[in-house]
Amino acid sequence: MAERLLILGGTAEATRLARQAVDAVGDRLDVITSLAGRLDPPRELAGQVRIGGFGGTAGMVEALRDLRIDLVIDATHPFAAIISANAAEACATAGVPRLMVIRPPWQPEPGDRWLEVESLAAAAEALPRIARRAFLTVGSGGVDAFESVTGVWLLVRLFAPPAGPLPLAEHHVVVARPPFPLEDETALFGEHRIDTLVCKQSGGPTDAKLAAARAAGARVVMVRRPPLPPGERVATVDAALDWIKRAISA
Ligand SMILES: NC(=O)c1ccc[n+]([C@@H]2O[C@H](COP(=O)([O-])OP(=O)(O)OC[C@H]3O[C@@H](n4cnc5c(N)ncnc54)[C@H](OP(=O)(O)O)[C@@H]3O)[C@@H](O)[C@H]2O)c1
Repeated sequence: MAERLLILGGTAEATRLARQAVDAVGDRLDVITSLAGRLDPPRELAGQVRIGGFGGTAGMVEALRDLRIDLVIDATHPFAAIISANAAEACATAGVPRLMVIRPPWQPEPGDRWLEVESLAAAAEALPRIARRAFLTVGSGGVDAFESVTGVWLLVRLFAPPAGPLPLAEHHVVVARPPFPLEDETALFGEHRIDTLVCKQSGGPTDAKLAAARAAGARVVMVRRPPLPPGERVATVDAALDWIKRAISA
């Protein structure tokens, strides 16, 4: 009987891993990707898909048993801290091997002006001291942290239109989904005279906004990643595939 892999997804890496696992070992492995369900699932997702929260750690333990999962790969976003902590605990409880795929963080380049902060709240606190016109790329869940900011005009980029008015002083919303080409990012910085970019330390290939900030001489307020749960981790999809191959031939 084929073994069963659960990928905790919601990232480009998770989508690529599902494709590569199905292509490489799909005859010996059932691949199931789990998504939170906040956005439409990627159309090209290979294998099976389950959508929606598990109901905390206890719900995930139950799901691992119901779905007869043999292996878990946590390929969620570096800021998706709750699901990663739940996965660590649930896999330990259920005795299921777990690997984390953690993309390397971005590094500042010579001349970059980064202010690294511990949280979105700290970013909001710093903004009035250093910015006049800031570009917020912190996701819809991060906007509320900037509610108290005054005296700074905010350009807010969201992947989907907001459900209602945002709780912000002077601002403008742009709705767009990645990829964000460098020319478009550069044009946004110029058109809106952005002097400060606020972003989470996501890492990965979507760094055109950092290049555009550099070209515009804008400062970057970089929100550091939350701590990871303990456990084995790799930086690339290829390394995760090797882990899968070793696990299913063991
Ligand atoms: N945070 C970001 O900046 C960011 C950026 C890009 C993509 N994403 C993706 O968006 C999803 C949600 O991110 P988040 O920051 O809201 O996560 P989170 O704060 O760690 O998780 C909140 C809750 O959402 C559910 N959940 C999250 N990821 C799930 C998954 N892959 N499958 C099933 N349920 C999931 C879980 O509900 P239950 O407790 O009910 O199980 C979890 O407790 C993640 O899958 C992540 O990979 C996040």
